[in-house]
Amino acid sequence: MILLDGTTLANEIKQNIKIQTEILKKQDITPGLAVIIVGDDIASQTYVDMKSRACDMVGIYSIIHKMPSNINEQKIVDTIKMMNDNDNIDGILVQLPLPANIDENKIIQAINPQKDVDGFHPFNIGSISLNTDGYIPATPYGVIKLLKKYSIKLKGQNVCIVGASNIVGKPLMSLFVNEYATVEICHIHTKDLKAHTIDADIVCVAVGKIGLITADMIKDGAVVVDIGINKDSDGRLTGDVDFEAVSKKCSYISPVPGGVGPMTIAMLLENTIKSAKKRKTDG
Ligand code: GUN
Repeated sequence: MILLDGTTLANEIKQNIKIQTEILKKQDITPGLAVIIVGDDIASQTYVDMKSRACDMVGIYSIIHKMPSNINEQKIVDTIKMMNDNDNIDGILVQLPLPANIDENKIIQAINPQKDVDGFHPFNIGSISLNTDGYIPATPYGVIKLLKKYSIKLKGQNVCIVGASNIVGKPLMSLFVNEYATVEICHIHTKDLKAHTIDADIVCVAVGKIGLITADMIKDGAVVVDIGINKDSDGRLTGDVDFEAVSKKCSYISPVPGGVGPMTIAMLLENTIKSAKKRKTDG
């Protein structure tokens, strides 16, 4: 079994981004990312802090707009519009989930698709589907980069994705289809999960349930990508896969932590740099 080491690859990508940032700065362009966080969700706050620190590390300017959970929806839209019009901001990110009283779709659709470095706007989701240029959501983008780094064959492979979220499962499905893989997508209403995972050459799991994927559900020699983020009873970060047992059976496995997580941040930075480079050619 070989570990899919996301930490090392993410560090390589960040080093490369740092070099590109320095080149942009010589051309008087400091890449800028605006992050909007609404409410007091501790996990969201942690993610936003991690993203902001990563920006600092590679020389991207970042600004965090923190808003209370009872904020008026229009105020969020107004802040986004301000960032859309700000020439120093290349990327706009609204940390999800939003409080229940706020319409997530309305907020995402207020972001200029050219600055939607999270790739959540319908325009960018459509671009993945059409396999045209756009911003790819960071987590699925990171999964594909990680698999490619290890030269794992995608073309013609049977892929089973467990979890059909808008930000991971569904875009990941399109990315695999674009690589000519054959994809099945499972979710909470799937009748017999094992019947789907057991035949897959590559299993990707993004559900948020500790121990969901057990060794009996995985084919010998399969590739297993764990995208789950959970805290166990001791407060330790853990994924959705029974790592101990599954790692004895599979050919490659991504650990949690140290697998897809660091890749997510690296790909967000890459999307931000991509947008900043467009500033140079468009403006
Ligand atoms: N919540 C969980 N993952 C993400 C992400 O990649 N981007 C944003 N904005 N919110 C998230």
